[in-house]
Amino acid sequence: MFWFDKHNPDVEFCDIRVMDKTEYYPGRYIEINPDTVCDFTELPFDDNSFHLVVFDPPHLEYAGDTSIMALKYGNLRGNWRSMLSSGFDECMRVLKPNGVLIFKWSEIQFPLSEILPLFSQKPLFGNRCRKRGNKTHWLCFMKDEV
Ligand SMILES: C[S@@+](CC[C@H](N)C(=O)[O-])C[C@H]1O[C@@H](n2cnc3c(N)ncnc32)[C@H](O)[C@@H]1O
Repeated sequence: MFWFDKHNPDVEFCDIRVMDKTEYYPGRYIEINPDTVCDFTELPFDDNSFHLVVFDPPHLEYAGDTSIMALKYGNLRGNWRSMLSSGFDECMRVLKPNGVLIFKWSEIQFPLSEILPLFSQKPLFGNRCRKRGNKTHWLCFMKDEV
């Protein structure tokens, strides 16, 4: 949804779901058509492959399975804290040294302060402004040189 060019040939789009184009609200559509269907806790890519990774996991635990929110963003289920932790480590594994990881999180149900301790690294910077009800945060991490 957030990509300006949804068919950018330089981007490898990944998701665990595939969904045909669906009208979730009159005149509004969603389609999930990843280049690679995979689990972000077990990415099918070699170590040190990408310059940039965007990690945009589901952020909602309390959303009905058939709700519009779950349709659009997916759900957090089971031991999701450990899943986010493994997902972060996988993103770091496939990044090249000095590669950049962008993490997106919406604080609709869980504040960043509960999520960041799940990660093996601290962010370098990001938008933390909550003015005007902003709940979506973009944070930047960098993989170490080694
Ligand atoms: C917030 S949405 C991402 C939206 C996407 N960034 C975009 O711009 O369209 C979160 C997505 O993570 C997917 N997801 C959930 N668990 C996953 C997993 N273990 N591995 C890969 N994708 C997963 C969901 O299917 C959902 O589509």
